[in-house]
Amino acid sequence: MRVANKRGIEMISAERIPNNVNLSGNKRLQRALEHWQPKYIQWWRDMGPQGFQDYHHVYVRTAISVDPEGWAHFEYVKLPEYRWGIFLADPVHDRRIGFGDFLGQPVWQEVPGEFRNQLRRLIVTQGDTEPASVEQQRLLGQRCPSLYDLRNLFQVNVEEGRHLWAMVYLLHSYFGRDGRDEAEELLERQSGNRDKPRILEAFNEPIDNWLDFFMFTMFTDRDGKSQLMSLSESSLDPLSRTTRFMLTEEAHHMFVGETGVARILERTCQLMKQAGYSEDVRKIGGIDIPTIQKHLNQWFSLSLDLHGSEVSSNAASYFANGLKGRAKEDTFDEHVVKNAYYSMEFFEDGKPVTKEVLMRNAMNEVLRDWYVGDCAAGVVRWNRILEQHGMSDRLQLPDRKFNRHIGMYSGFYFDPNGVSLTKEQWEQRKHEWLPSAADAEYLLSIMAEPVYEPGKFANYIAPPRRGINQLPIDFQYVRTEQ
Ligand SMILES: [Fe+2]
Ligand SMILES: [Fe+2]
Repeated sequence: MRVANKRGIEMISAERIPNNVNLSGNKRLQRALEHWQPKYIQWWRDMGPQGFQDYHHVYVRTAISVDPEGWAHFEYVKLPEYRWGIFLADPVHDRRIGFGDFLGQPVWQEVPGEFRNQLRRLIVTQGDTEPASVEQQRLLGQRCPSLYDLRNLFQVNVEEGRHLWAMVYLLHSYFGRDGRDEAEELLERQSGNRDKPRILEAFNEPIDNWLDFFMFTMFTDRDGKSQLMSLSESSLDPLSRTTRFMLTEEAHHMFVGETGVARILERTCQLMKQAGYSEDVRKIGGIDIPTIQKHLNQWFSLSLDLHGSEVSSNAASYFANGLKGRAKEDTFDEHVVKNAYYSMEFFEDGKPVTKEVLMRNAMNEVLRDWYVGDCAAGVVRWNRILEQHGMSDRLQLPDRKFNRHIGMYSGFYFDPNGVSLTKEQWEQRKHEWLPSAADAEYLLSIMAEPVYEPGKFANYIAPPRRGINQLPIDFQYVRTEQ
């Protein structure tokens, strides 16, 4: 069933699985997804937000169309009743392959046999991150700084769940039996589980305080943006259309992270004026700037790792085959990139050496460059807050070599300025740059009491400038049964 709203825009259908892909026209696929649906709901209940499943109504947005002007509809829902569905951005007429060896040919509506494994791997790796982040964040509701923040957390969570649906739709539709098996396994792996961990390291790290959450949504969701931008260039048209719509939702996740940290900074500045020095704000319950910087270091470096090795033959072949492009591929002059080179800094015998690498082999680094630039712009905006308050402290992105576990810098030690260290020096000093157990303990201590009263905020964070969907800040964004 397809419905149109007042403006004549095609709406998401009101079936058991909301969708704009004419699911009811493909009974086999519909049945397969309806079979997966209860397992998904069970996973959400077990591994999703703890303590907020049955009695709370959350004011969230749900997609009702893919029209950029009006796709979201806001209402109170119980989380397990959220309308998770399958939404693809509208097709682009006569879309052509935009890069690699097949440049200019029509895009694919089916998966070519020779790229099946590579595409499946890309989709599974992306898909795995979505439920992982919900699992990582499942205890945060019990420590929330306000109802406004609680609602934002749940909004991010339900949309990550929807992103899982987006990837599972592709697996079920285009990868047959293997795809169905992969969809099951996406619900079986668990963040941080020793035997069945999530695929990527950053998605196995616990997120048990709100500073981690905001840094994660700032930096790790932004890696999601990098990856989705490069996948939205894909020659596999359904993958491109799926990821294009995911990017619309993703923007809000980064907003939550960036403004969350901004509000902490705002409050820290206020407290510093009372306390004197940054370190002393802990005495009055605030979060000092060095602690904020350490969490920034942690999540930025983990998210750099997510972009993969600097030199990568997989990345080269994804590009050559047209599976994964560069962010904003159309802004580049040349799209085949066969004989181009990238000047890359290597680290050899304790010294940096620049070498030319075939650009195709450097595609992970090209995407990482885009990512670092996008992060740096965010840090500039944060520093404006410190400046406005007349503070001399500034936040900064650590050097890319700092705290890396993947790629050519893993196994070596660097400080945040990129100065090489011995292992002993690193061990001695790492907690100057990364959160320590004492930092974690302090943060948990000031977050132990959740704030559930409308319009009230925890002492360590300033209120937002405005509420959600033009509602007041003291709106009851989450309420219990009435
Ligand atoms: Fe996502
Ligand atoms: Fe996200």
